[in-house]
Amino acid sequence: MAFLWLPLAVVAIFLLLQKLQKKFSKKKKILPPGPRKLPLLGNLHMFGDNLHQDLNKIAKKHGPIMSIHFGLVPVIVAFTPYAAEQFLKTHDLTFSSRPSNQVSENIFYKRKNLVSARYGPYWRNMRKLCTLQLLSSAKILAFQPMRKQELGILINFVKQAAMEHKVVDLTAKVGSLSANMSCLMIFGKKYMDEDLGEKGFKAIIQDMLHIAALPNFSDFFPFLRIFDLQGYNRRVKELAKLFDEFLERVIDEHVGESNEQKQAKDMVDTLMEILQSGAAEFEFDRRHVKAIMLDLLIASMDTSLTTIDWILTELLRHPDVMKKVHNELEQVVGKNRMVEELDLESLEYLDMVIKECNRLYPAAPLLPPHESIEDCTINNFHSPKGSRVLINI
Ligand SMILES: *[C@@H]1O[C@H](CO)[C@@H](O)[C@H](O)[C@H]1NC(C)=O
Ligand SMILES: *[C@@H]1O[C@H](CO)[C@@H](O)[C@H](O)[C@H]1NC(C)=O
Repeated sequence: MAFLWLPLAVVAIFLLLQKLQKKFSKKKKILPPGPRKLPLLGNLHMFGDNLHQDLNKIAKKHGPIMSIHFGLVPVIVAFTPYAAEQFLKTHDLTFSSRPSNQVSENIFYKRKNLVSARYGPYWRNMRKLCTLQLLSSAKILAFQPMRKQELGILINFVKQAAMEHKVVDLTAKVGSLSANMSCLMIFGKKYMDEDLGEKGFKAIIQDMLHIAALPNFSDFFPFLRIFDLQGYNRRVKELAKLFDEFLERVIDEHVGESNEQKQAKDMVDTLMEILQSGAAEFEFDRRHVKAIMLDLLIASMDTSLTTIDWILTELLRHPDVMKKVHNELEQVVGKNRMVEELDLESLEYLDMVIKECNRLYPAAPLLPPHESIEDCTINNFHSPKGSRVLINI
């Protein structure tokens, strides 16, 4: 009899399991597909120095919306324009928040800047204010003479160096140009390296971007939190103090001076006007002004430098392209005058070169991470509240 019982029992158990599984998977919400994860590490072992490229390789197997784990933290990554649109447009309200970190909490005054602000009335109003008052086209245009003047200084320098057959470190020069322009636009005057801490302006901004971009182990493994293994918290607090002293000084200088001799109001002037007029219909004090000042400084300085650096590198590596750019410049502008900003519209080939470099070397290949504020279903996949989302452009 046992011969008969055994197979029957096996079949019965099999059927039961199948049924259970069906029931279970109906209830269980399905996350987007992704690579198998290790206990504890998640998928961290799969990543090297270039996270966005490693992600791309893995995604080839799993599709345009993929879920992975950084340690214990689930992360969803979007790869195609359609996938990005799902998070940034179709479900933008759900995903418009940002995960908090030590940099945004400490250096940006508990997330009062635009880049890492929590979604809510402050975020909405501040965005509006920035688009209308700080970054309006009239405002950008008002700084045009300044940009021309600063560019002139650099070109004269390069001319001089060329005559003397000297080597020029263009990366350093473009960095200094970008810092000069950003400072003039935001603060109304140039601040030099020695104005910020002992290490200098650029080094400190680099430092902060570095820390902000470093993977944070206590974030991936919450049980490590109390140890501060990477010594982050101390470094972040030191940086926060340096920045705060500097920003306070800039504001004090603005409050002390009269605006009359200035050609164009700088952005701190505008922010202080809003603060003093009390016209903002939301909480807006010195901390908000400082957070936005820092946002503007970082966004303008580092991204333009990286982009220009890559464009020059690629042009030097592709002499044929360089030649075409030269030809176009000669045709459109000629050899007798400087290129003006207005010429840019007619420089179509140059425009394509810039776009191609942006495609190859985007300044922020994963964009700042998003975080969802509620559960959501995307393409039939489940995305739980608090999911981190990376957009791989
Ligand atoms: C930035 O401004 C300083 C001070 O005017 C000047 O010495 C420096 O050459 C400028 N940098 C560039 C690249 O023009
Ligand atoms: C790292 O993550 C932990 C836990 O989320 C957080 O408390 C800490 O401030 C973070 N550190 C940095 C430098 O972001």
